[in-house]
Amino acid sequence: MSENQDQKLYLPSDAAVKAARISGMAAYDRLVAEAAQDYTGYWARLARELISWKKPFTQVLDESQAPFFKWFADGTLNASYNCLDRNIERGLGDKTALIFEADDGAVTRTSYSQLLARTCQIANGLKALGVRKGDRVIIYISMSVDGVAAMQACARIGATHSVVFGGFSAQSLRDRIEDTGAVAVITADQQVRGGKNLPLKAIVDEALTLGGCDSVKNVLVVKRTGNDVAMSAGRDRWMSEVVDTQPTTCEPEWVEAEHPLFLLYTSGSTGKPKGVQHSTGGYLLHAALTTSWTFDLQASDVFWCTADIGWVTGHTYIAYGPLALGGTEIVFEGVPTYPDAGRFWKMIQDHKVTIFYTAPTAIRSLIKAAETNEAVHPRKYDLSSLRLLGSVGEPINPAAWEWYHANVGGGRCPIVDTFWQTETGGHMITPLPGATPMVPGSCTLPFPGIQAAIVDETGADVPNGSGGILVVKKPWPSMIRTIWGDGERFKKSYFPPELKGYYLAGDGAIRDAKTTYFTITGRIDDVLNVSGHRMGTMEIESALVSCTELVAEAAVVGRPDDTTGEAICAFVVLKRPRPTGEEAKKIAKTRSGKIMRRLLRSIAKGEPITQDTSTLENPAILDQLAQTN
Ligand code: WTA
Repeated sequence: MSENQDQKLYLPSDAAVKAARISGMAAYDRLVAEAAQDYTGYWARLARELISWKKPFTQVLDESQAPFFKWFADGTLNASYNCLDRNIERGLGDKTALIFEADDGAVTRTSYSQLLARTCQIANGLKALGVRKGDRVIIYISMSVDGVAAMQACARIGATHSVVFGGFSAQSLRDRIEDTGAVAVITADQQVRGGKNLPLKAIVDEALTLGGCDSVKNVLVVKRTGNDVAMSAGRDRWMSEVVDTQPTTCEPEWVEAEHPLFLLYTSGSTGKPKGVQHSTGGYLLHAALTTSWTFDLQASDVFWCTADIGWVTGHTYIAYGPLALGGTEIVFEGVPTYPDAGRFWKMIQDHKVTIFYTAPTAIRSLIKAAETNEAVHPRKYDLSSLRLLGSVGEPINPAAWEWYHANVGGGRCPIVDTFWQTETGGHMITPLPGATPMVPGSCTLPFPGIQAAIVDETGADVPNGSGGILVVKKPWPSMIRTIWGDGERFKKSYFPPELKGYYLAGDGAIRDAKTTYFTITGRIDDVLNVSGHRMGTMEIESALVSCTELVAEAAVVGRPDDTTGEAICAFVVLKRPRPTGEEAKKIAKTRSGKIMRRLLRSIAKGEPITQDTSTLENPAILDQLAQTN
């Protein structure tokens, strides 16, 4: 890899270009041109090449009910057939699909045939409990073979899964159960992270007592630690008892392309989390396509995406994309810092990982650890198997990029800085490893076919070099279909009338005047990104004011943080008088009761106040807040 000092361009090596599927910028340009010339023809070609259809589609894009777009609507398929059976039919039955490493380091290998057998057993078990096509199933479990198999099993019978991250509270779980109207919950007795046993089943029990969960008829419990948990007769069953005796084959349920494969909840700027609904056909296409082009996944690769299946990254780049291509991937139960902060590097060494995909926050915290403890520095490990690195979830600062490139990638591995969202289903703006010259901190250029652009508040294009609002001008196959149960909110959130029907990502961005590369400048709404996790400021404020004994009012903003990217900064007015004075009783609210969030953000960052403060109810509060900050 060579470095052009002037523009800080990192060019992929000749070898990387030669080996890659999309080889050189001319190949990238050809794809972009193909999509420009015949947009639907381009996606139809790829959908035929990458996906096995039971009934081939004849329609490509249906815009008649925009923005409720449909792709490949008259085609039928099954996602689990595409991820499992199809690979076995191609002779990959004995190939390792999953390399599972437990928190304590124990390793289990699962072949494609074994994963299919387990998936079918779970699918048959779910059917035996009465779960049918279209039913929703909540999966609340940590990283495990059964976690992936449970997702595949839902897909196999046409049930729509909704995975809830194992770190979420009983209340969050309850909210998701109620909103989805799930008929079953798949969980484990406990989860093991960083040497500790943490509850899962007990939290499910609590969630189910909080009301609104009458739809749940069955709870399936995987035995992970074997510690005692309460089992409610008639409702709770051990996974092994329901599933282990089931047949290891199960005819896939062939579903329409638009059939909802999953719902995944994510934070918005207002209100409760949104149930992002994804389709089967369009979603699976982009999962497979981006795994093929962005990660250039080859038969001999060992792929490791460190995300949890509770997030969209774990859906697209663990549960679906790599399996759709017949890849071998790591599923890791633990945390990057246990037993020490060299865990990732040791696992790359042990499993000869070739492609490694993680979040900037993890990189930044491992940089810190390596600075103080030489033993966990990546140079202490043999990372020579790596050929490609990836980053996702938040902007990667150039310093972290350079460190990742030099110390983990040995200066030879391209880094794909992939910009995308829960709502987009897969990568939207990203380098392709054998084509795109890279610039640290920039996600570079749109994935071929994705019509990303930067506009002003009226939807007009802004010139390169000046920032604006990131939009996508045309529908694409893996886009969010709706917010579960709330089409109006879907329209309002993502297709505001002033933006000419463009998809509004919620991020600001700027294109470089010279390279035309995109750099994401951060959210333009009231969504925080803390360690790559999306949180609505309103959700945190609601949690604070729910401490009714203590908290009168709360306002939450983000402030830059060296490790987590953004940190939560809460301005809280206590009900009991504080020694610092009575004036602190009013936070920065306008006379109409609206929180001046931009103002608080400036204070949190230690910036001078430049905003208009004339509408504030109590302008004197600003000095006081600035001093106490
Ligand atoms: C941010 C995660 C800069 C962005 C896949 C987006 C990024 C939000 C990047 C989506 C990136 C994600 N560079 N920012 N490469 N990737 N983001 O839904 O603000 O959890 O809107 O999806 O993360 O977060 P989500």
